[in-house]
Amino acid sequence: MQLSGRVAIVTGGGQGIGKATALKLASYGADVAVVDVNYENAVVAAKEITNMGRKAMALRVDVTNLKQVEEMAESVFNELQAIHILVNNAGITKDGLMLRMSEADWDLVMNVNLKGAFTCTKSVLKYMTKQRWGRIINVASVVGEMGNAGQANYAASKAGLIGFTKSIAREVASRNITSNAVAPGFIETAMTDALPEKAKEELLKQIPLGRLGGPNDVAMGIVFLSSNIASYITGQVLNINGGMYM
Ligand SMILES: NC(=O)c1ccc[n+]([C@@H]2O[C@H](COP(=O)([O-])OP(=O)(O)OC[C@H]3O[C@@H](n4cnc5c(N)ncnc54)[C@H](O)[C@@H]3O)[C@@H](O)[C@H]2O)c1
Repeated sequence: MQLSGRVAIVTGGGQGIGKATALKLASYGADVAVVDVNYENAVVAAKEITNMGRKAMALRVDVTNLKQVEEMAESVFNELQAIHILVNNAGITKDGLMLRMSEADWDLVMNVNLKGAFTCTKSVLKYMTKQRWGRIINVASVVGEMGNAGQANYAASKAGLIGFTKSIAREVASRNITSNAVAPGFIETAMTDALPEKAKEELLKQIPLGRLGGPNDVAMGIVFLSSNIASYITGQVLNINGGMYM
């Protein structure tokens, strides 16, 4: 799984799964642009990558804003001379039961999780099609496959991301660009730290491997899908969930 000479963009790369992915891609040889609304975290992640001897950029970008994303893609291309790998990882939750869910919470989750993948994919495809090599990896969720009470907005956005992944796979396959999703189960990050202890105990009962995953479990799946050895895999969902959903 060699990635030297590759340039990657990781959205939401400032912490959690995105940061682990940015660092793993760099450890396999890629130069990485860390994109996040939280600029301070993006800078720290980029610094860790340059300390590893790779090139890195930190960019403050809100993935819901197409203009900001287009400018980001242009500056990554100008600075790092290519865009080979896009990891659409930025994502949020705004949980609530349907009867209580506000329109604002529905829209925000759709905008970040689903529209964010649209803005980023649209903005990098022109570079990938010209170079006739590309990897798009969307971070979906087990919840997009199984559903989850209290997460209708989040589940819909992640199920939507799976449909998006497959459509893009069909559109760009002739240009030697693959489009795949990873669907993590419950991974220990700030997102799951917010869960009450009781909810975590209930969750563990549903996971055959008997533990939550770590960010690197997901990052390694993304490294694999980014690499040359995954060149015949497109339009797929790689489940990284401890057996929670089969
Ligand atoms: N943690 C889990 O158990 C789990 C499970 C399945 C899927 N996921 C998915 O994995 C991805 C990463 O999750 P995480 O647990 O690392 O979350 P996290 O909250 O730790 O990190 C998310 C990152 O995205 C950034 N971000 C949020 N909104 C943004 C925006 N509009 N533009 C740019 N950046 C933005 C945040 O600043 C943060 O750095 C998400 O898409 C999430 O839905 C997580």
